[in-house]
Order: sequence, then structure tokens, then C-alpha cells
Amino acid sequence: MKVLGIESSCDETGVAIYDSDKGLVAHALHSQIAMHAQYGGVVPELASRDHIKRIIPLINQALQEANTSLDEINAIAYTSGPGLIGALLVGAMEARALAYALGIKAIEVHHMEGHLLAPMLEDNPPAFPFVALLVSGGHTMLIKVEKIGSYEILGESVDDAAGEAFDKTAKLLGLPYPGGPHLEKLAQNGDSKAYHFPRPMLDRDNCDFSFAGLKTAVLNALNKSDKSAQTQANIARCFSDAVADTLSAKCNKALKQCGYNRLVVAGGVSANSAIRESLTNLMHKRGGEIFFARKEFCTDNGAMIALAGMVRYLNAEYASLEVNVHPRWPLSMLKAIEQDKVKNILYR
Ligand code: KG4
Ligand code: ZN
Repeated sequence: MKVLGIESSCDETGVAIYDSDKGLVAHALHSQIAMHAQYGGVVPELASRDHIKRIIPLINQALQEANTSLDEINAIAYTSGPGLIGALLVGAMEARALAYALGIKAIEVHHMEGHLLAPMLEDNPPAFPFVALLVSGGHTMLIKVEKIGSYEILGESVDDAAGEAFDKTAKLLGLPYPGGPHLEKLAQNGDSKAYHFPRPMLDRDNCDFSFAGLKTAVLNALNKSDKSAQTQANIARCFSDAVADTLSAKCNKALKQCGYNRLVVAGGVSANSAIRESLTNLMHKRGGEIFFARKEFCTDNGAMIALAGMVRYLNAEYASLEVNVHPRWPLSMLKAIEQDKVKNILYR
């Protein structure tokens, strides 16, 4: 069986094909970063228009890469939320129309479930249960995952998401959009002892996060500084250390609370090497296991949507004939899936 997955929730158009026997057989991506960079952030209307331009060529590219044709596809999965409504509608229209024309099922995929399952595209995928840390541009969440679809939110950000904090801090430092990867690079030349920024909410006995105060601390430090290149690098380094320490401490708390020793980290910010290292050290100290997606599957992509789509297809969750999108869609609304239905494709 083959599922074609389409991602178009924000500023990346992604298309991929997941084969139940062979795993991921193709993935194609177009990032709109260069287009939005001149505005300092995503312009929703431009994003939608660009998805329209890219989506069919990317579908053709993925089919070619998989050496297959549309007649061999069993279902079309698409990100139906959360995300920008116009951008989501492009993927939804394309997927729904294609599925209808081919007489096959369309599958609605939750973008964050896509991120959460992305580490399962790697060799040695995590077993269940685990704690998942989802850190993206729009979300920061700790989740108790008993099985696929059983998502208990243990904590989340009360203000900015981790990616948003990276992007806003990067902007203060004069770096281009999206700031996360640029800030990571700048931080590599920074001195970790130059500043001590707050580790927000660590004194609270819960798994919630807050990053807005950290951004203010950076702004104050910057205003008082000489703004030299070295100072900027020091600030980037100390900010990144503060985020890494905070994520690490909250993951530890969540693992203790659940009695689990397996951590899955996903979403755009999980591409950050310093954060990967800090969480890997935590799990090493705990004698537990840690799982990430390869870096290109941490940020938005079609591969994670094709995999999540396959899982939902195997659970017979088919989209209706309406074109449905859900710009806001809590993860807790998803259905839990029994392992037996999906274990053959997850652990091949
Ligand atoms: O998961 P994602 O691609 O999109 C959302 O679903 O939001 O995450 C994008 C976010 C952006 O805020 C971006 O700056 C951040 O992930 N990001 C990073 C890195 N790569 C992407 N943050 C820190 N370090 C990185 N290397
Ligand atoms: Zn995402």
C-alpha cells in the first residue's frame, strides 16, 4: 500500500510517498523561506499562492522519485490543521480533488501528530510508551504518549513557543527570518559564561513553559551592551543555553511524573544541535533512551504527513467528501490506535 502525503500548513510545501512494505520511498520539498525573509516573517496570502504554484510539480517529482504513478497510490493524506487557513486549504483542495478523481480515500492529518511521529521514519524507531517534547514555531508541549493517538498534554508554553522565542530573539540580534538556524550558528562562537539568563518556570511544580521573559532579558542585555559581534554571539549562546536547560529540566520532570525513561523530541527546534546535545546528556544521565528525526524531518515536510496518513489510513479514518481544514485543532481530539493495527509499518 502507498500513501501520498501533502504538507502545506505554513511556509513549506512538502510531498512524500510512504509505502507499507518499503517505508518512505520519496519526498520532495519547497521552502518559501527566501520569499518571506524580505518581510521578516510569513505573509499568509503569499504562502497560499506559492503553495498553489508548487504543489503539482512537487507531486510529480515525488511520483517520479518513487518510480510510481497515481494509479498505484491507495490514499492521499494532507495536513488539515493546525496552521494558516489559506495555506491549509491549498493542500486540502488538492488532496480531496485528487482522491475523488482517483476514487481513493483522502486522509486528514494533524500537523503536530506528523511531527511527533517523524522520529519513526528513522532506523530504530521508539517503542511506546514515551514522553514527547514537541518544539516548533507555534507549539511547545510535553505529552504523555501511551500509544499513537493517546496524547495527554503534561504541559505547554503559557506564552511564546520555543521556536517563536528563537525567532524573536534572533530578530533582536538583527538576524534574518527564520531566526532559529541563524541564531544557532551565531551561538557557536559565543561564550557561555558571558551572561546568565533566567531559566523560566523551573521553580514551578508543573511541566509548563514560559519564554517571553527570556526574550525581555535578552533585550535588556543587548541595550546595555556594546553590540559588538562577539557580544551578539555571547548573547545568542547564553540564550540558547537557557532554552536548552529549561527544556531539559522540564523533560526530566515529565519523565519522572510518568515513570517513563524514553524521550521523543520533534518539531523545528529539535533540529538545534545544542538542544539535541543537552537532551541527549539528560537521557544518558538517566540511563534512558532518546529519539529525534533526522534534521531535515524536524522542520515541516511531507514525509511525516505521509507516515501519519498511513497510520490513520490503517485505522480506517477517512475524510468525508467535504474539504475540511482545522486552523485550530487540539491534539487531544485524536483517536487512539491499538498497536497491532500499525506495528508492521512502524517496526519493519
Ligand atoms: O516545526 P516547524 O518547521 O514549523 C512549525 O510547525 O512551527 O518549526 C519552525 C520553527 C521556527 O521557529 C524555526 O526558527 C525553528 O523551528 N528552528 C530552529 C532551528 N531550525 C528551525 N530553532 C533553533 N535552532 C534550529 N536549528
Ligand atoms: Zn511544523
